[in-house]
Amino acid sequence: MTVQTWLRRARRGLLATGTTAVLTVALLAGTEVTSQAASQAPCDLYASGGTPCVAAHSTTRALYGAYNGALYQVRRTSDSVTKDIGLLSAGGYADAAAQDAFCDGTTCVITVIYDQSGRGNKLTQAPAGGAAPGPDNLAPATAAPITVAGHRAYGVYVAAGTGYRNNKTNGIATGDQPEGMYAVLDGTHFGGGCCFDYGNAETNNLDTGNGHMEAIYFGDSTIWGSGTGKGPWVMADLENGLFSGPDAGYNANDPSVSHRFLTAIVKGAPNLWAIKAANAQSGGLSTYYNGARPNVSGYNPMHKEGAIILGIGGDNSKSSSGTFYEGVMTSGYPADATENAVQSNITAANYQAPAITSSALTAGARVSLKATTSCCDSHYLRHQTDGTVAIAPITSTSSSGDKKDATWIVRSGLASSACLSFESAAAPGQYLRHAEFQLHTAAPNATTLFNQDATFCLQAGHSGQGYSFQAVNYPNRFLRHYAYTGYLAGDGVGGNTWDSDALWSDDTSWLPAQPWS
Ligand code: AHR
Repeated sequence: MTVQTWLRRARRGLLATGTTAVLTVALLAGTEVTSQAASQAPCDLYASGGTPCVAAHSTTRALYGAYNGALYQVRRTSDSVTKDIGLLSAGGYADAAAQDAFCDGTTCVITVIYDQSGRGNKLTQAPAGGAAPGPDNLAPATAAPITVAGHRAYGVYVAAGTGYRNNKTNGIATGDQPEGMYAVLDGTHFGGGCCFDYGNAETNNLDTGNGHMEAIYFGDSTIWGSGTGKGPWVMADLENGLFSGPDAGYNANDPSVSHRFLTAIVKGAPNLWAIKAANAQSGGLSTYYNGARPNVSGYNPMHKEGAIILGIGGDNSKSSSGTFYEGVMTSGYPADATENAVQSNITAANYQAPAITSSALTAGARVSLKATTSCCDSHYLRHQTDGTVAIAPITSTSSSGDKKDATWIVRSGLASSACLSFESAAAPGQYLRHAEFQLHTAAPNATTLFNQDATFCLQAGHSGQGYSFQAVNYPNRFLRHYAYTGYLAGDGVGGNTWDSDALWSDDTSWLPAQPWS
């Protein structure tokens, strides 16, 4: 074996394991490697594979081993001051404590997601587009807490209406040029509207025709395409179509995937494209499609324009939801070996969902749940004597009956001890439940359905304040007040008036308060 062949093989092996390519350089230079070089991050691996990152976005960690700049910027509600959030160390993890200190006593939104590639392809608030007015909403900075490598960090929580964009990019593929992209997402947070995307889109916020986009889509929309099961699916948004495989519409090779942390990949080259996905916490990538462009006019060749979107469709369609932790776009069509190495790097980063706990929300505690929407921030979740549930103002001068109706006894979840149920303090034995997506109080009837309808799992508040309560049997629906009445509501999905995306994050965020009774 020649030295060159050995080096080529060694380099391929190193790439596959995600080990440092600096070692290769050292070997070529004839120097001895005595210590571990800077650890490799996804963009180092893409660079080694000959398909460098041209955009690298993350609010959780560095995507280059040597990156030591800002990850994102937050803006404080109290005084509109902004602050860049950087890393604990070069190549490391987000300095979440800096955000927590800066936002203490108020709320913050994520205003900028910086581009670590050095090309300036940062993402900022998306403007109006052909499908929807703007500017879009900004993500609450604390709505998607996680840990990565044991460090607290925050993802980008996209409720319907939230969106980021860059229309003046540098180095992003245009026309039929090859590119790759991956994103790490929350596979349990999705919607069915158009379109929670990350990737390449139009530079004018309009739908300019087939093939003018190439982005990762995640959700359970069946408007254009779908796969097996009931979703959600990773698909490619190629404009005027979410593609799940070779054909428009249904493709049997694209499975539903809902890993809590999900790696999603889309890549495209002349008459070639692929979809892949994986559990971002363990294991390898699966390929759901790898082949020719759709046999539909406009997609071969492609007409990519090179803008970057996050959370929205190319024309600013903003009716879906999702959570983004990190993602990149590359120049060139990445090799499978490179993507396998990136997936190994992602699993090694050890994304974890933190247990969301509240001392006010432990089994046996009495609590009142205060609304946070500005209309109603002296209102509490209460039931009436007929079992209907609403929000209403409660003050120290309210009647003792009203105070009792606005007080709940926290119970271990009837359907899951990892979640909670709420028993009425006024009517012991009656539990808060949803039925037909409306809230009531009722006595358990020993059915699985009742127990599930009365069980809610704690999440960080969608608005960045307090907590949100997810239905154990409808993961995309949460306790919400709407027109002062209590509902179980989806974020723009579900088809009921109370699923409206307007104020959804606020209406589904509750503050545990001293029990009124
Ligand atoms: O391709 C699906 C969607 O169609 C795009 O994201 C949007 O631009 C258009 O409405």
